[in-house]
Amino acid sequence: MDIDVFTLFPEWFDWFERQRHVANALAAGHALGYVSYRDHSALSGRQVDDTPFGGGAGMVLRVDVVEAALRARYGRDPVAERESRRIVALTPGGRLLDDKLVSELAAEPRLTLLSGRYEGFDERIVEHFATDAVSIGRYVLAGGELAAMVVCDAVIRKLPGALGHEDSAVEESFSAALGGAPEYPHYTRPAEHRGWTVPEVLLSGHHERIREWRAEQSRRRGAGGD
Ligand SMILES: C[S@@+](CC[C@H](N)C(=O)[O-])C[C@H]1O[C@@H](n2cnc3c(N)ncnc32)[C@H](O)[C@@H]1O
Repeated sequence: MDIDVFTLFPEWFDWFERQRHVANALAAGHALGYVSYRDHSALSGRQVDDTPFGGGAGMVLRVDVVEAALRARYGRDPVAERESRRIVALTPGGRLLDDKLVSELAAEPRLTLLSGRYEGFDERIVEHFATDAVSIGRYVLAGGELAAMVVCDAVIRKLPGALGHEDSAVEESFSAALGGAPEYPHYTRPAEHRGWTVPEVLLSGHHERIREWRAEQSRRRGAGGD
């Protein structure tokens, strides 16, 4: 998979790329690229934003600057480019990111994430250049970089080669394998700590009973049980 992040702060992602699952995915042939909006501003002082029409606080990311950055990266009109790759504008009011959307994005061969800053995007960016508007939660961050990392992290975990154990990403919270419910509880050694014991069934070695117990725990959690 080929992921591009458009941002004012590409250097933020240096740390992200060093994380094990991300490094594994890159070593397995997936690619992460970064484009700085500022590198594509033709305005004085490499300005990327401007005051909002109609007045109000803050600055708005300019549509011409974002267009120039997309054109430079893809070599054609970004309106046409969105026919061949998923282009996601990160914005607090967008479609909420969940496991279904993450799986959908992870199945794409190419993905672009547009990070906003300040008051956000000139709406024409979302309307004409993006295929999707995505939110990582109903709260407001200072910028889209952390949101982009959240999307990349969740997507990359689902790519072949990213996790040490391929099954890890199959049966986990909100996955189809668990019917969309949260995952069942896990325990490891010691089997007893301060008198707190591990459910007997997990020590039984009886795979079918363990499978049933886990499915039941997951269902209960999904129903708001614990
Ligand atoms: C300060 S926010 C802009 C908030 C905008 N004025 C509003 O009220 O919706 C700046 C940028 O951070 C990113 N951002 C902030 N919160 C986000 C969230 N919950 N999900 C996705 N992106 C977010 C977006 O890219 C946004 O353009």
